[in-house]
Amino acid sequence: MKSTQINEYYKKKYSTLKPSQYEWTSGTASPKLINMVETGVIPEGAKILDIGCGIGTEAVYLALNGYDVTGLDISKDAIEKGKQLAEFYGVEVNWLVADVLGIPIKSDSIDVVTDRGCFHCIRAEQREKFANEIARVLKQGGLYTMSCFSNQVPGNPYPVETDHFVINHFGVSSKEILETFSASFSCEKLELITNSKAGEKGFYGWHSMWYKL
Ligand SMILES: C[S@@+](CC[C@H](N)C(=O)[O-])C[C@H]1O[C@@H](n2cnc3c(N)ncnc32)[C@H](O)[C@@H]1O
Repeated sequence: MKSTQINEYYKKKYSTLKPSQYEWTSGTASPKLINMVETGVIPEGAKILDIGCGIGTEAVYLALNGYDVTGLDISKDAIEKGKQLAEFYGVEVNWLVADVLGIPIKSDSIDVVTDRGCFHCIRAEQREKFANEIARVLKQGGLYTMSCFSNQVPGNPYPVETDHFVINHFGVSSKEILETFSASFSCEKLELITNSKAGEKGFYGWHSMWYKL
């Protein structure tokens, strides 16, 4: 599946379905992100860019916690829903409909880039460009935090049963993550996360944290 097809997949879902029907929407920020906020790993007042922000669940959570947040997504419909969510909560978020491979933000201007589920939408050939764009917008020492699907699923690859599993074909290995980001970042953390018991099929992903060199 090409990135353009992935983009079309998301755009179609956002324009035709309700948020409760998106299989990736959790309705809440991830426990990892909440922990980074609560422990001060994401410093107070930081300027944050949430890439592939979808309907803005995490962008709005971050804005509620006083951060200066920009939510970026390739889907106009997702961003429209994000605007409604921010309005409902009465918070300000800057919204951008854009491709993460060409972020319309000036270089060295962002403290933290958050990514829940965007990296695994990017084709292998475009990963270097993706990493370069994130490094470009981040200030030196800035944090990139990322969660993505892993290929570490028992019985991998997933059977192609639903759209969700098609997307899982982009599940990546730890080696691929290290190869993608090590040139411009130092790795703070790379851990396998799952909601399944050992050996079972289910959700397997990576959570990783990187600081720009
Ligand atoms: C798995 S969803 C995650 C949404 C959101 N981060 C969340 O946690 O609810 C992946 C998101 O990445 C967006 N996306 C995929 N490719 C993109 C690209 N090239 N540029 C910007 N956004 C992209 C999709 O539109 C989708 O909203």
